[in-house]
Amino acid sequence: MMLHPVGIIGTGKYVPERILTNKDLERMVETNDEWIVTRTGMRERRIAAPEQATSDLAYHAAVKALAAAELTAEELDLIIVATITPDMFFPSTACLLQDKLGARKAAAFDLSAACSGFIYGLATASNMIATGMYKHVLVVGAECLSRITDYTDRNTCILFGDGAGAVVLGTVPEGRGFRSFELGADGGGGELLRVCGGGSRMPSSAESVEGKQHFIYMAGNEVYKFAVRIMGNAAEEALRKAGVDKKDIDLLVPHQANIRIIQSALNRLDLPEEKCMINLHKYGNVSAASIPIALAEAVEQNRVHEGDRIVLVGFGGGLTWGASVLVW
Ligand code: UT7
Repeated sequence: MMLHPVGIIGTGKYVPERILTNKDLERMVETNDEWIVTRTGMRERRIAAPEQATSDLAYHAAVKALAAAELTAEELDLIIVATITPDMFFPSTACLLQDKLGARKAAAFDLSAACSGFIYGLATASNMIATGMYKHVLVVGAECLSRITDYTDRNTCILFGDGAGAVVLGTVPEGRGFRSFELGADGGGGELLRVCGGGSRMPSSAESVEGKQHFIYMAGNEVYKFAVRIMGNAAEEALRKAGVDKKDIDLLVPHQANIRIIQSALNRLDLPEEKCMINLHKYGNVSAASIPIALAEAVEQNRVHEGDRIVLVGFGGGLTWGASVLVW
């Protein structure tokens, strides 16, 4: 079978207008700006308007990615939305987005791999294009984490925000595009980061609401240790598979969970901070949307050029992780 080189041919992002600052959080829980900045690097996050749901954020990001790729929605063969905050159980957010976009020829499904979801989505889509099954696939990471955040829990509420990032994948000239993917999971660590309520194990009930089971629970310290180990491991494994040396990385686009986690990955890869896309001070952690928002912003800021070697790396609930090396 002939494999076609596959790459990103358009990027787009959307973040809601409303800003939640550290000062705002000081009025909601017992915390302070200094603690949040030194422990996480975060200063602000965006919060969706009451009438906005995940598919609305995804729509705005997707429209921009399609325009950048110079494609119409009708030219899409498939839409994948990576999210842990779908508009509803079903139909999938991808189907809702397909309808909003008028992408009537596209198949559509959601993918659940928490903060690693966007990289899982890229791996899935790029293989479908490489084998000739599809030509153009839209991959979106979109979240309304504010809807599953407990704003009385200072351990979690300072971290999360809302937003969406999108890319269009298609074939690219030889020598460019995705060089490797490294995906992994450790379901044994699932209880460290989860939302229990509302599923088939614990259907929604007055008790589940009372017990705050519909909000994110996170064992922050344990997740932190896992993150520090896995970011370096996953990135190094993706580099090894791609045959790219870490000194040749032009840009690292990591999941935006904590500045200290990103710094540990930079140390491990011997990379200076200038070679890393960091925007968590503006948006916090947007789970599956963090990496595509950061990538779209890197493109907007002219930080990626043809031929650059880019490493994407993320980790999250599941536990899951993913990394990819691509040539722009
Ligand atoms: O994408 C999803 C993956 N999630 C993550 O990557 C999160 C990974 N974890 C982290 O980023 C960090 O563990 C946190 C930022 C969540 C917490 O930072 P930490 O340095 O691990 O702090 P800690 O949990 O060890 O807490 C230290 C202290 C505690 O007080 P005591 O018990 O030492 O008296 C906490 O109660 O800080 C306290 N604390 C706070 N203080 C002020 C926890 N949250 C806050 C807060 N403001 N918001």
